[in-house]
Amino acid sequence: MKAVRIHKYGGPEVLKYEDAPRPEPGEDDLLIRVHAAGVNPADWQIRSGKRTVLEEPFSLIPGFDVSGVVEATGSGVTHFQVGDAVYGMLPGAYAEYVAGPAASVAHKPRCLDHIHAAAMPAVALTAWQALFDAGELSAGQTVLIQAAAGGVGHIAVQLAKWAGARVIGTASGRNEDFLRKIGVDEFIDYRTRRFEDVVRDVDVVLDAVVRDADEAIDALAGETLERSWSVLKKNGVLVSICTRPSSETAAAHGVRGKYILAQSNAAQLTEIAGLVDAGHVKPTIDTVLGLKDARKAHELSQTGHTRGKIVLRVVE
Ligand SMILES: NC(=O)c1ccc[n+]([C@@H]2O[C@H](COP(=O)([O-])OP(=O)(O)OC[C@H]3O[C@@H](n4cnc5c(N)ncnc54)[C@H](OP(=O)(O)O)[C@@H]3O)[C@@H](O)[C@H]2O)c1
Repeated sequence: MKAVRIHKYGGPEVLKYEDAPRPEPGEDDLLIRVHAAGVNPADWQIRSGKRTVLEEPFSLIPGFDVSGVVEATGSGVTHFQVGDAVYGMLPGAYAEYVAGPAASVAHKPRCLDHIHAAAMPAVALTAWQALFDAGELSAGQTVLIQAAAGGVGHIAVQLAKWAGARVIGTASGRNEDFLRKIGVDEFIDYRTRRFEDVVRDVDVVLDAVVRDADEAIDALAGETLERSWSVLKKNGVLVSICTRPSSETAAAHGVRGKYILAQSNAAQLTEIAGLVDAGHVKPTIDTVLGLKDARKAHELSQTGHTRGKIVLRVVE
């Protein structure tokens, strides 16, 4: 099969579009013909060597987000059949085929094509687990979403609205109309206003400001996290998906700080697919590129200013 692989850590140039062995599904696995693969910051954080340390040379197919069609099932798989359209988080997504646990995927939302479905799994699971599992967000509460226009942020906005929360979102001014359209009640341009001057008594803060893109964004991201403590009400919770918040600082403010790393969860993906099909949540696509153009996709994602998602089209 064709795949994008890396054999050493480095910049976008280490991504190679080449032949690779087609994976074999194990007993509880699906073999999926990938139609589209979503791009996440984790892909270039791993590519650059910041996340994992494998001894070089190695072969690694990046990517976690997949939407495609079941090509074959392991003997232990009962919930899926050949030909089912599925989406989920499986490592090795930048390829024509990926194999992985059936327990990690769900049937694709019916109203989305593969490009839009591939935009969803990692960011929707992250937003869900951050807002509802860690943040325990409920109807009538207020949530501040830092980086509301990004992949995670724009789905978090819609999930929080669906849950009946009041949503405050930060982004640069060019994203104001976009964010108001998807449900933000109050918009704050982080370039012209300090959110802590206008926001207080928030129940949940979601910190989703992208890290490792460049030094300027990183510096502002760290500062944004520190300035977020003061906007929480007593016993409120700051959930970061980027940095483990200091428990000492949280205690000093009389609030809680949590970090989550998104986990595959087929039940949540099924519930999210239902929300998509019911019209409550819709992914926005920033850019679609071919699988061969993974390098360009990483360069774009690394600017730290994507609106919604970048997706690689695998089947034309
Ligand atoms: N722990 C986990 O399980 C997990 C899961 C997914 C993602 N993550 C991490 O979460 C971060 C966000 O991921 P993502 O996919 O949402 O990234 P992304 O789509 O690349 O985020 C880009 C967005 O960030 C916004 N932004 C940049 N600087 C900002 C600032 N100072 N304040 C407010 N918004 C700002 C940009 O808005 P403007 O263009 O308007 O500036 C842009 O819309 C990444 O670091 C990723 O690695 C972690």
